[in-house]
This record gives sequence, structure tokens and C-alpha cells, in this order.
Amino acid sequence: MAEDFKVTPWEVTGDIDYDVLMKKFGTTPIDDKLMKRLSRYGEPHPMLRRGIFYTHRDVDVLLDEYEKGNEFYIYTGRGPSGNTHLGHIMPWILNKWMQDTFKCKMLFQMTDDEKFLFKDLTLHDTRNMAYENALDFVALGFDPEKTKIIVDTENIKTLYPLALRVAKKVTFSTAKAVFGFDGESNIGRIFFTTLESAPAFIPTEIEGKPTRVIIPCGIDQDPHFRVTRDVAPGLGYPKPTMLYCKMCPGLSGGDKMSSSDENATIYTTDTPKQVKKKVGRAFTGGCVSVEEQRQNGGNPEVCAVFKYNYYLFEHDDAKLNEMAEKCRNGEILCGECKVALTQKINVFLEAHQAKREEAKEIVDKMTFEGFKW
Ligand code: TRP
Repeated sequence: MAEDFKVTPWEVTGDIDYDVLMKKFGTTPIDDKLMKRLSRYGEPHPMLRRGIFYTHRDVDVLLDEYEKGNEFYIYTGRGPSGNTHLGHIMPWILNKWMQDTFKCKMLFQMTDDEKFLFKDLTLHDTRNMAYENALDFVALGFDPEKTKIIVDTENIKTLYPLALRVAKKVTFSTAKAVFGFDGESNIGRIFFTTLESAPAFIPTEIEGKPTRVIIPCGIDQDPHFRVTRDVAPGLGYPKPTMLYCKMCPGLSGGDKMSSSDENATIYTTDTPKQVKKKVGRAFTGGCVSVEEQRQNGGNPEVCAVFKYNYYLFEHDDAKLNEMAEKCRNGEILCGECKVALTQKINVFLEAHQAKREEAKEIVDKMTFEGFKW
């Protein structure tokens, strides 16, 4: 069967079939047994319950070790290429749940080097964006005592020896096969993956004993971590545990919220008016006329407004089901759903923006090895 979608760390296109992707990458579905096991530590986050985080590598192994008293770290990151939008925040919210539930230490990597190498940006641009994005990360309430933010160009002294050891184990053929590089790829891109591996090994270095990490993130990052997991044992580190989510959909009906589609992307710094306008233009599952929709109903399956409730803004399953039901029956129309979603997003953003201001006071204390913003 021809694949009509593409998912790599740098490009996501087409209509993603997440089951096919899981099989292609070789990750394991999160089944009932694992969900039950996770529930023993606390109420699973709706993103787990709803299958937004849907696949993993070795979460069971991590829990086995945890039950023997071996603490683990959380590691995730962001490539600072532009303002933070809801699609970036989505996996961070699950990371926050993870830290609250397991009380673990956490590393957050800002790959300013990556975005310099892969985008038309200067190092100055990516460094500034790292700061702006860090404010959004901090605003979500990660424990300032337990969380450190790595910026690659600042913390390179610690990262470099780890990256080098990874680099020595990865051939150009592997990099080409995993990432699709060719003769035109700049050589920084080829080396970069080693820097995304490095933080997975820092906890073992800090603790002075084998220390596992769990990396909750978008499934598009799996190519990097397949490499990380392959080389880990040979370098004397535990393989990182992976927990993957689907991409956050865009408002225009696409599979991924993306800055290349500004009008369908909600930034954390958007004003209530901008949100209203963007949600107002969102793709829905409605009919062309009110009469038709009253009679035939709409289709929540394809509706971006419904997806936003499902992914982020309506945690109550009963309310969500009622919303879908009323849509299918033609009882509620797209306009009403848009008004309600706009309000939910604006309530969230108002609180987030206040916390983002407060983050300016805390962010300095959360830098890895105390670098200065
Ligand atoms: N490459 C990621 C991006 O472009 C950033 C990143 C670095 C990351 N380390 C990570 C993402 C670990 C998830 C987990 O956004």
C-alpha cells in the first residue's frame, strides 16, 4: 500500500495513520494492562486515557525498576525555532503530569543548535527563542527544585563528551537510512542527533549509577531515540524509555499544528481577539447550511473544534460525549461550539500568560549548570 504520509523529526506531511506509523517504527501500543499499572500511581492523564499518548518503548521495564526503588528522570525538549503554540505545550502537559505523579527530576533540552542547522535562522535568533520558549515551559509549573533547562550552545561542555561517544557508534550509512540525509545535507545535521541523545545519559552521570529516563514526546522524535537506544548498552547506559503522542492537530483540519499555517495556529501569546478570529475560521464537521445541519447533523470525527476539546480543553468524558452526540443530532451548530472553545482557550491563555510573566523570575534558577540567560 502506498504511504500518503510522512513523519520525520523535521517534516510531518499528509494524513497520518498512527497505527501504521507505530508498526513502521516498531513501538508498542499502550494496552489496558499498562494503563491499569499506571493507574496505581495516580489518575492517568486524559491524554493517556484518550489514546493521544498511545505508544511506547519499555514503560513496563521502567516501572519494574521503579518498583524496586530505582528512581528515574524525565527528559524532553524543544527545538526553539519560533513562538510556542498549543501543539508544543500539549506533550509538556503530560510531562508535568508525569513529574507530579512520580515526583521525578527532569531535564528539558533546548536544541538551539538544531534549529540553526535546519532552518534559516541565526544562532542569535535560536538563542532568543530558547528563552521565550523556556518561559512557556516554566509557566506550566514544573518543580523549580527538580527541573533543569539545558541550552545546547550553553551546556555544550557537558553534552559534548557524551555526543562524541554516541557519534563514534553511529555510521553515516545509519544516519542516512534513519534520517534520509544525502550528499546535499550539511554536515552539522548529520552530527546533530548525537546531541539529542546526550541528555538521556546525563542522569546516570549525575547520579553516579545507572539511572533510567523516560522521554514523553511526539512520535516524530522516534528516529533520534531509536539511535539512542541502539547505542546505549554499548556505552554503559540504560536505554531510554519512550512514551509517544500523536501530533496536535491544526485548526484548519490538518494533522499537525504548524507555524507555517499561522491562521490555524494558536500561540501562547495570542490575544483573546486573535483566538476568536482563528477559532472562528476553524475547519469543522458541519454542513453548508443551517437547515441541512439541523436535519443531518455534523461530524465531530473530522472537526478541528471537537479535536481541540478532545486533545486539550475538555477533560470530562461525559461532557465530551454529549458534545459529540448533540453535534451528530444537529442539536448544536458549529458557531456555538466555536464560541465555547474560544472561551476555554482564552481562559487557559489568560492564566498561562500571567504565569509566563512570573516565569521570568524563576527561569534563571532553572538553568542547567547555572548558565546565564
Ligand atoms: N528535536 C526536538 C524538536 O525539534 C527538540 C528535542 C530535543 C526533543 N530533545 C528532545 C523533543 C527530547 C522531545 C524529546 O522539537
